[in-house]
Amino acid sequence: MAETKHPYTLQTLSIHSGRPVEPATGAVSLPIYTSTTYVRDADGGFSREYAYIRDGNPNRNSIEDCLMALEGGEQAVAFSSGMAAAFAVFQALAPKDHVILHRDMYFGVREVIRGVFARWGLEHTVVDMRDIRQIREACRPETKLLWLETPSNPLIEIVEIQPAAEIAHEIGAKLACENTFATPVLQNPLALGADLVVHSMTKYLSGHSDAMGGMVVLKSNSEFGQRIKDYQMNGGAVLAPFDCWLILRGIQTLVPRMRLHCENARRIANFLSTHRAVAAVHYPGLANDPGHTIASRQMRDFGGMLAFEILGGRKEALALASRLKLIVRATSLGGTHSLIEHRASIEGEQTRAPESLLRLSVGLEDANDLIQDLDHALSTGL
Ligand SMILES: Cc1ncc(COP(=O)(O)O)c(C=O)c1O
Repeated sequence: MAETKHPYTLQTLSIHSGRPVEPATGAVSLPIYTSTTYVRDADGGFSREYAYIRDGNPNRNSIEDCLMALEGGEQAVAFSSGMAAAFAVFQALAPKDHVILHRDMYFGVREVIRGVFARWGLEHTVVDMRDIRQIREACRPETKLLWLETPSNPLIEIVEIQPAAEIAHEIGAKLACENTFATPVLQNPLALGADLVVHSMTKYLSGHSDAMGGMVVLKSNSEFGQRIKDYQMNGGAVLAPFDCWLILRGIQTLVPRMRLHCENARRIANFLSTHRAVAAVHYPGLANDPGHTIASRQMRDFGGMLAFEILGGRKEALALASRLKLIVRATSLGGTHSLIEHRASIEGEQTRAPESLLRLSVGLEDANDLIQDLDHALSTGL
């Protein structure tokens, strides 16, 4: 697949991008700049670039530069959460505009589209974007944005980015791709034709379940990007300096962490797919997964997220999660700890997750220990 446009590999960029040596002291690790305000020049200007924390902050510039390099974009805008980043993208549209969404997506984004933005006049159509025909049929003259997540949450579906981008461009719309599960280590949507990439940096980019943030990276500087930037500054959903610093720290180990997440997930998916208490495994690394062929083309590896359905229903799934000793029953993903979640309980009525489904964020523990934990919990229930 196409690589980012910088001369260095992603591993080198993840360590060096957005990390200038601090000029005043020579510090190699950028300090955390907590100052909310900056001194004006004698003539009233701000020749040192900074004026007020909501408008700009060195730690925020640093993480925006880093993500811009990792995703190969020309503009990056950091937000206080993944949801704030998604909000800004939809707010950059106008009432009566129409968006097309892939049917499997983070339920929080789906809820704000159905709730907040529908009331605001934004029209939407939900389709299975794995089927090009469905995307084409949903297109209208007012369609301004196609939004997809791949791999998706919670069913780990794979959507092919390139044809979706082509359709978007044919009708004068943009393609936004959530890259939270894959991260730029495994997939670069901008190189495949997407116009913007959206991240919840609370997950793999931060990597340690201790910081929250969101990011929008745009392929090129545009008026649309400026509107997103305006929502960051004037809407005030800015990423705090300490969270910028923590997430940037996490990104330094993103490449080796993703390697191990993928390796552990592959071993667990293989184990689960042969267990007699498991009815189905959703993981694009499995050769019989519906997303395998496309994921092999557009991703460098298959990721650390998987979902599996057990024999039985809600009661059996919840009981299984409660028998685990090592894997933690908690929401979220992308950290060093493995986390398991019964998605139907958290997502409510609109969920697409079957009651028998558990989503697993495979952490960085020893895969043998994780398999043993799962094996014990699954076999006890038989
Ligand atoms: C795929 C995906 N996108 C967005 C979000 C929202 O991110 P945040 O919690 O940082 O607002 C989540 C949260 O779980 C997610 O899983």
